[in-house]
Amino acid sequence: MTIRLAVIPGDGIGPEVVTEGLKVLDAVSARFSLQIERTEYDLGARRWHATGETLPDTVLDELRAHDAILLGAVGDPSVPSGVLERGLLLRLRFELDHYVNLRPVKLFPGVRSPLADIKPEQVDFLVVREGTEGAYAGSGGFLRRGTPQEIATEESVNTAFGVARVVRDAFTRAAGRPRRKLTVVHKNNVLVHAGDLWARTVREVAAEFPGVSVDYCHVDAATIYFVTDPGRFDVIVTDNLFGDILTDLGAAIAGGIGLAASGNINPQRTTPSMFEPVHGSAPDIAGRGLADPTATILSVAMLLDHLGYREASQAVEAAVAEDLLERSTAGRRTTAHIGDAIAAKIVG
Ligand code: NAI
Ligand code: MG
Repeated sequence: MTIRLAVIPGDGIGPEVVTEGLKVLDAVSARFSLQIERTEYDLGARRWHATGETLPDTVLDELRAHDAILLGAVGDPSVPSGVLERGLLLRLRFELDHYVNLRPVKLFPGVRSPLADIKPEQVDFLVVREGTEGAYAGSGGFLRRGTPQEIATEESVNTAFGVARVVRDAFTRAAGRPRRKLTVVHKNNVLVHAGDLWARTVREVAAEFPGVSVDYCHVDAATIYFVTDPGRFDVIVTDNLFGDILTDLGAAIAGGIGLAASGNINPQRTTPSMFEPVHGSAPDIAGRGLADPTATILSVAMLLDHLGYREASQAVEAAVAEDLLERSTAGRRTTAHIGDAIAAKIVG
């Protein structure tokens, strides 16, 4: 029962929230007799300034030897936009073939949603975002950059293999949930090539899952339903870019970005999966104890679940749920206080 865990605290609030995630992991490990072998990796803005490196190949090789990765966040105003996000975060997702980017959207009891009159049971769904293709694949370029005749392209790459594997994963997840409902989100009325491949793939894979009902909505309509009727969703499968945008909206309706967890998953487990809060490095609040560590702590719960430690995962989620219930009366707490409170509930 040893977990070889790589930890990448990263930039901004990343190290602050990761400290609390590890605090809770230590508490749950003690209770369930798990051994954690932790290795911390100094990646992000500091390293880039010091050495010019984002993700050295040697570090990538070392990361591969772990069971899972816990990441805080990367990105800093002192580093040109995209250098760390593409060179570190996206490179990890691509190199480790994290083709399932799993993002639960769940409103916990006691948490205030900006939606009026919404009940927790109406917001409880799972977004399966494709993680290795689409507009994020890095296919594109400049021509005549910096001139009035400049051309910039950013192609969305969709492979039959890549779409089929993420769609099959989403069906599998839907089949394992009580409602057994899958909603495909795309824009196949305009993006007719990728949209056609997605639609045909869904039809083919659906035949393997007769117990799962399937519906479809365009991504623009999906943003309406997220706000007006989130209860219609159970599992959503969508492409990389749509999923990125939709899940920030999902985080907002479920009580805020400070609560939204995610997993970058390689379901075959040929590489370590990586768990991280949906939010970024929040430079506007970094270093002041203002960051909410809950998203990172829930990401730790997802990590444990992925590795098969279901009871430990549920214990973390239950402690978070209890803490969230009490929050409205708890007054303002620092990052560390929230971590302490959740860890204490696990120890019992
Ligand atoms: P952000 O998520 O860092 O911040 C957006 C807003 O949410 C800010 O007002 C921030 O204070 C607040 N916020 C975020 N996390 C919070 C938490 N745990 N508790 C309380 N408030 C929280 O997104 P933004 O500002 O667009 O990006 C900042 C940097 O992070 C950029 O460099 C961006 O590229 C990077 N980024 C990195 C991600 C990652 O590492 N996975 C994901 C998103 C952005
Ligand atoms: Mg995002």
